[in-house]
Amino acid sequence: MLVLGIESSCDETGMALYRADAGGVLLAHALHSQVCMHADYGGVVPELASRDHIRRLVPLLRQVLSDSDCSLTMLDAVAYTQGPGLAGALLVGAAFAEALATALGVPTVPVHHLEGHLLSPLLSKRRPQFPFVALLVSGGHSQLMRVAGVGEYELLGETLDDAAGEAFDKTAKLLGLGYPGGAALALLAERGRPGLVRLPRPMLQSGDLDFSFSGLKTAVLTRVNELGKISDQQRADIAHGFQEAIVEVLVSKALRAVELSGLRQLVVAGGVGANRELRRQLDAHAARTRIAVFYPELEFCTDNGAMIALAGALRLQAGDSGKPPGAFAVRPRWPLTGA
Ligand code: KG4
Ligand code: ZN
Repeated sequence: MLVLGIESSCDETGMALYRADAGGVLLAHALHSQVCMHADYGGVVPELASRDHIRRLVPLLRQVLSDSDCSLTMLDAVAYTQGPGLAGALLVGAAFAEALATALGVPTVPVHHLEGHLLSPLLSKRRPQFPFVALLVSGGHSQLMRVAGVGEYELLGETLDDAAGEAFDKTAKLLGLGYPGGAALALLAERGRPGLVRLPRPMLQSGDLDFSFSGLKTAVLTRVNELGKISDQQRADIAHGFQEAIVEVLVSKALRAVELSGLRQLVVAGGVGANRELRRQLDAHAARTRIAVFYPELEFCTDNGAMIALAGALRLQAGDSGKPPGAFAVRPRWPLTGA
């Protein structure tokens, strides 16, 4: 079974071809990031994002077909991100997918973007088995889920305000780094001196599995304002203190979720899952205990088409027959537990 996957929920256009038979293999994937285009505005401009998706879809489709030596007539289904995300951006991908599937006479599989992230470690050679606990930390979401199988997701905890990636991005902005600044902030943190900037660990002792990150960003703002003129080393020290605080909270809550669930596998997905310090601390814990931690390949941590093709294929394999192509709707706001 050959599934085309299309991602267009925010500022990345992703396209991929996944063959579901024989254990599953990703035949090709291609991505265009709009990060440079939005950087001048300090954030994603929805209308520009939609227009750029329109420009990229056909070239990316041609690329994955040629890279995999496949033709359109070989497709069995077209999976695409139905939500959550920017309404206009989602509409572009959905309209393209539904039109293509109508022309080919194959079903579509509308996919939840977070389901794509959750399942993305299954694209790796070393894969988790169901059930597992997932820490989903992206620019828009921070959630802990119990994943019993494809489509079986139980929310264990989530952020009450900013997402982890959003906290990274807003703090990066405060420190004068570009947008999205998560990766740049993490890099700067490596030059920071440990122990010099101690920031709060929001909700670390709350007793539940929820997060809150907006206070952390405010604490950074207060520190920056107190300092006035700020040297490069001081910026690195603040970045270090910020990363230390947020990683401690994420690690502590994720391990607590694993413990409470009685499971032994933790999956870390979403853009913040690329963070090296987060991985280092979780791996160190895994080495000391019987918990196994799984990550997507770095290129599949942030938004991509491969995870959407995979999620679509797994849904079909699990008995979902997809949807007849044609009429469609997008779901800019859509809780995963209702998917
Ligand atoms: O999953 P993703 O591509 O988009 C959403 O679905 O939201 O995640 C993007 C987020 C951004 O906030 C970005 O700053 C953050 O992931 N990010 C990082 C790192 N790389 C990307 N945050 C911390 N450390 C990183 N190395
Ligand atoms: Zn995402």
